[in-house]
Amino acid sequence: MSYQTLLLDVKDNIAVVTLNRPDKLNALNTQTINDLNSVFDELKENEGVYVIVLTGSGEKAFVAGADIKELNKLDIISAKEFAEKGQQVFNKIEKFDKPIIAAVNGFALGGGCELALACHIRLASDNAKFGQPEVNLGIIPGYGGSQRLARLINTGRAMEYILTADMISADEAYRIGLVNKVYPLNELLDKAIEMAKKITGKGQQAIRLAVKAVKAVDQMSLNEGQNLEASLFALCCGTEDFKEGTSAFLEKRKPEFKNK
Ligand code: COA
Repeated sequence: MSYQTLLLDVKDNIAVVTLNRPDKLNALNTQTINDLNSVFDELKENEGVYVIVLTGSGEKAFVAGADIKELNKLDIISAKEFAEKGQQVFNKIEKFDKPIIAAVNGFALGGGCELALACHIRLASDNAKFGQPEVNLGIIPGYGGSQRLARLINTGRAMEYILTADMISADEAYRIGLVNKVYPLNELLDKAIEMAKKITGKGQQAIRLAVKAVKAVDQMSLNEGQNLEASLFALCCGTEDFKEGTSAFLEKRKPEFKNK
């Protein structure tokens, strides 16, 4: 399928999704949110896709936020629907069973920062700038930023960034654990694909259950999370990949996972 605001390229079990409105710094308009919703439905069904890399087109921005032209027209009723629709799509991304790596290639502001936060792993270019500048516009984050930023980097820091609207440099984002790694801009996508390739080489049943287990930390108490972990661990032990992985180790050979 093709999309108005996104590019999709699938190769070697890796899907690269590129937000593609470079003249508007890939700002998220209604069409982009709808396209993101549809592309993740397509990627869920595509059994040949194991890992997704999400990035922005151009050298300046991952996503510079929700489209301010559209925001400007919201009233109380439409604003609630607007926030809920975005949250629903970002929740779909966060709960996606296949790993999603954000390759943040420049500005990740407002909805752009929230989109990166919904992904499972964040890599950044050295020119990346994160931030939740909504208060500059007289609003607060509406696509989950107040919740996910606080969970990822701690409440005090999230409060500071949301109240001051200060931008966070790539180095600072690395220091506070907002991103996993920082690369020169021209290496970022290759590095993201390199990481994705490492993941595609494992048994995908275990990869998907691992995503589910780690993401549960935001939803559950330690006890509940450990119960879930034990159940998912047990499910792994019912797979062919488990037999193959453990047997390969004992036979001193490389495993050949069938993702079953
Ligand atoms: N919504 C709609 N359009 C946006 C946008 C957004 N969030 N961010 C950038 N654009 C558009 C600009 O209006 C401009 O369009 P134009 O050429 O038709 O005028 C184009 O993208 C380029 O942006 P520009 O502001 O000229 O680039 P810059 O390098 O001078 O500044 C930013 C870059 C990111 C600092 C600046 O664009 C900005 O502050 N954007 C808004 C960020 C924001 O508040 N996001 C949160 C929204 S909730």
